[in-house]
Amino acid sequence: MTQDEMKKAAAVKALDFIDNDTIVGVGTGSTVNHFIDALATIKERIRGAVSSSEESTKRLEAHGIEVFDLNSVDVLDVYIDGADEVTEHLQMIKGGGAALTREKIVAAVAKTFICIADDSKQVPVLGQFPLPVEVIPMARSYVARELVKLGGDPVYRQGVITDNGNVILDVHNMNLTAPSEMEDKLNAIVGVVTNGLFAQRGADILVTGGQAGVSVTK
Ligand code: A5P
Repeated sequence: MTQDEMKKAAAVKALDFIDNDTIVGVGTGSTVNHFIDALATIKERIRGAVSSSEESTKRLEAHGIEVFDLNSVDVLDVYIDGADEVTEHLQMIKGGGAALTREKIVAAVAKTFICIADDSKQVPVLGQFPLPVEVIPMARSYVARELVKLGGDPVYRQGVITDNGNVILDVHNMNLTAPSEMEDKLNAIVGVVTNGLFAQRGADILVTGGQAGVSVTK
């Protein structure tokens, strides 16, 4: 199986977790694109979706799946999203696609976060993948200096503006052995909108696609 086929296998498996007549939280990325395509095959039995990005909204709507404003939704049973890295504790780095803020919001609302990924995303410790941090544009240089004080090497993601009108700093070489604590420290920097550590609200279920097939970890 190719990496893309493994992503697709995990995405299709996630349909098992979708109950009838529910609104489904939908993340962003190439793995989620497979999930959206799979969701379209059962669209008659769901009410619709809440989306974490303009990109996913477009794809959902192209399939005829209704996209609800999160503010109009009281209960969100599941949120399905990919990850850039995920540990055995189901803590993650996300934001490679720059959608981290809306992803974190939808994940916070959902009762169950189901992470879908190919098995290359599984790591013993977070941090090989540079940590995305969404920043208010005027605070970019200040936040970068603060990130250096925390031990990181921030790199401005040139040419990328998030759906919220902000910029992204990708932080290399950050020590993330205590991810929940670092999540708090990053959030405390003035000008930071969100950081891509999903440690305090990690996934509840991990569905991975690998050469041996799909496995589910809770
Ligand atoms: C989007 O901002 C990210 O959090 C994605 O969920 C993550 O980058 C995984 O993307 P792929 O499914 O494309 O690997």
